[in-house]
Amino acid sequence: MNKAEVSTLFAQQFNEAPSFVIASPGRINLIGEHVDYNSGFVLPAAIDKYMYVAVSKRNDHQIVLHAADISQHYQTSLDAALQRSNLDWPNYVLGVVDELKKNGHSISGFNILITGNIPVGAGVSSSAALECATVFACKHLFDLDISKQLMVQVAQRAENNFVGVNCGVMDQFASMFGKVDHVIKLDCADLSYTYFPFKLEGISIVLFDTFVKHSLASSEYNTRRQECETGIAAIRQKFSITSFREATLTMLNAVADTISRDVFNRCTYVIKEIASMEVACNHLLAGEINAFGARMYETHTGLSKLYKVSCPELDLIVENCIKEEAIIGARMMGGGFGGCVIALVQTTELEAVYSRINTVFENTFGRSMGKYVMQIGDGTSLL
Ligand code: GLA
Repeated sequence: MNKAEVSTLFAQQFNEAPSFVIASPGRINLIGEHVDYNSGFVLPAAIDKYMYVAVSKRNDHQIVLHAADISQHYQTSLDAALQRSNLDWPNYVLGVVDELKKNGHSISGFNILITGNIPVGAGVSSSAALECATVFACKHLFDLDISKQLMVQVAQRAENNFVGVNCGVMDQFASMFGKVDHVIKLDCADLSYTYFPFKLEGISIVLFDTFVKHSLASSEYNTRRQECETGIAAIRQKFSITSFREATLTMLNAVADTISRDVFNRCTYVIKEIASMEVACNHLLAGEINAFGARMYETHTGLSKLYKVSCPELDLIVENCIKEEAIIGARMMGGGFGGCVIALVQTTELEAVYSRINTVFENTFGRSMGKYVMQIGDGTSLL
């Protein structure tokens, strides 16, 4: 969509032109899953699919929200403490406003129209995109003195404190800091980052969508995070380290009898995943794409067997990707319990590969899986 199209939708709803139109992308993540909240490295990128918001100031203290794609409206006042909405989607906007208010930023009433083309529930973080779009819109609308880094943190805290998902920083960071044709190596311990060019001749980044939207995703996510906290606390009882970054399997084994089997397995996955990210990045830089692909498969096994955030649909797709020579690597992506498999696929073989895997998928689950080819785009910006 372009600025004029979003502005037209806004004008239809609010009978005026918007002051600003913002585009904020979803994200993919090549490697480093469930390690952002464990001080690990991740390798995400922004995609060329966006949440768009258009905004204008009001003369009162109302926040008036309109979700154009689902024709839903929501309105609330800034005068009292903001309350969660049962509609879900307004909470991503309200959560950001709530955080900005808590941080002492001065916000008055505004109109906001939301539209977009990010597949919702596919695990590409439409929610982080909306949070980032909202904080970016507020910065411009109310002339807030707030850096990009801080906007990322406000967006993340909106999700933690208002939406209630105790997520890490990866999604919001990727959405805000994305750069066309680059992946971001983000050190989640201190938010330092490096861009790596990622444009592989003849290879496409493809998402295979299970269309499974697991209702347990947020509660199980919070449980995983809790299990990791229990694990690192047990290790720190015996060893003087600060985070999973310095933890080793030897340390974990030394405290194995003080933690449950589940906690042990979760920590095993996290320690291995953090350690192998460095190796994976080096493979990518050296153009050793097959070695990188092998790492993606290993990550999937860990997520499925040890971290237990996969589901039968994701596992079946990955099992069938392994059989395909034209697929360099594949794994489940994002929080898990549904959503997409990310795969690196030789472009000329994509249709044939999709058709073969989809046949197995259809025979097993009685319906088709989705397929999206992703381009790496820029982060949150004004249109
Ligand atoms: C979700 C969260 C992220 C990250 C991933 C798993 O997308 O929002 O912070 O933890 O899951 O890597």
